[in-house]
Amino acid sequence: MTAENLHKIDTSKLDEIIAQYEGKKSNLIAILQKVQEVYRYLPEDAMIYIGTKMEGLSPATVFGVATFYAQFSLEPKGKFEIKVCDGTACHVRGSMPVLNAIKARLDLTDGKMTTNDGLFSLETVSCLGACGLAPVVVVNGKVYPQMTSDAIKIVLDTLLKEEA
Ligand code: FES
Repeated sequence: MTAENLHKIDTSKLDEIIAQYEGKKSNLIAILQKVQEVYRYLPEDAMIYIGTKMEGLSPATVFGVATFYAQFSLEPKGKFEIKVCDGTACHVRGSMPVLNAIKARLDLTDGKMTTNDGLFSLETVSCLGACGLAPVVVVNGKVYPQMTSDAIKIVLDTLLKEEA
């Protein structure tokens, strides 16, 4: 654990969350969900802390659980989480050009999935169950149906303007 990373997590906040769930290892998933709510991802140091602090657990077990469940992110997420559906219907109806338009607008190159300012993160997901609206993009839970490259640029520009 580096000194720099130590400052990133608030151990009293983690203690509070652990206490809220009575420190029971059977509540580990709920605890990790809470931690993810606070940081918008699971910081490595937070997982090490939980694995060391909670009885009957180890950091390796916490990592194992965190990596097993798709709901947990080990990478920092942006304030705006963009999900581009790449299920079959969305793919066929053009989700990839939409994805590329997002990457170009947000300057996400070389596999980078979160903008440098931490405002946006991008991921592709499998079918969201709204195939009739394909291609679908979801931003912080809000569904944008029948997206096109031009439409998503307008959505992003609007969000950027609101944040400016
Ligand atoms: S394939 Fe995208 S919602 Fe089903």
